[in-house]
Amino acid sequence: MRMGIAIAVSGKGGVGKTFVSAMLVKRLAEHGTVLAIDADPDSNLPEALGVTVTKNVGSAREAIVNAPARSKVASAKEDYLKLSIHEAVEEFPEFDVLAMGRSEGEGCYCAVNHVIRQVIDSRAWGHDFTVIDCHAGLEHLSRRTTRDVDIMLIVTDPTKNSMMTARRIKELSQELSVEFGSIMVVVNRVTEETRPMAEKMARDNGLSIAAYIPYEPLVAELDLLGKPVTDIPRESPASRAIDDICNQVLSCV
Ligand SMILES: Nc1ncnc2c1ncn2[C@@H]1O[C@H](COP(=O)(O)OP(=O)(O)O)[C@@H](O)[C@H]1O
Ligand SMILES: [Mg+2]
Repeated sequence: MRMGIAIAVSGKGGVGKTFVSAMLVKRLAEHGTVLAIDADPDSNLPEALGVTVTKNVGSAREAIVNAPARSKVASAKEDYLKLSIHEAVEEFPEFDVLAMGRSEGEGCYCAVNHVIRQVIDSRAWGHDFTVIDCHAGLEHLSRRTTRDVDIMLIVTDPTKNSMMTARRIKELSQELSVEFGSIMVVVNRVTEETRPMAEKMARDNGLSIAAYIPYEPLVAELDLLGKPVTDIPRESPASRAIDDICNQVLSCV
């Protein structure tokens, strides 16, 4: 198996990026070592995974944001940054977690990008898979990050708006990167009634769908109770759909 596969999970806000990311982290952890990156400042990937993190890369990020454009000690700064990021990784029995932390102000996206790049460049840390739960916007999609990600996993739901966002992310990813790995589009929260509509909207937007994840009431219920969404039963249709996505990821490797 190839080492260091980076998967970025993107899509409009609220479509289920964190759910899909968390489930993938759990499943991929059965096949190798996983680093889960919570790159969405409004997000809760650790909670979705049922773990509590105490560290984040906030301080490393500040250092980048405040760094002078041209510094004589640029390489020292890079080393310091790498170390800070590395130190922010928290280890759990099944997987490791790196939280970006919350921060207001300018420079946030470019800093997120920078950290992600550092992590992807640091595949020598030894993770077989890196799953990045991305911010909902498109701002984080820079040339370097996009090129260095192996799989852009775009999540949408059966709504017109999120399908359009998925299309924009797909087009932007392709524009930004010639030698891009692969793009996978998955439709989340699908019911029997909405599936035909979702298929039509996907066709209309030129999206070929890798998987449909059924609506699973228990996911929202667990979320409400503050319990990890990854607690859904293995045999539930939503969990099976994730297994299917996981197999597709593994076959890309
Ligand atoms: N397949 C699903 N079935 C039912 N509810 C879901 C499903 N996927 C996600 N949800 C719920 O939808 C909401 C948004 O999901 P979340 O993963 O937080 O989205 P995002 O990270 O894209 O903002 C949450 O309340 C979550 O529990
Ligand atoms: Mg989220």
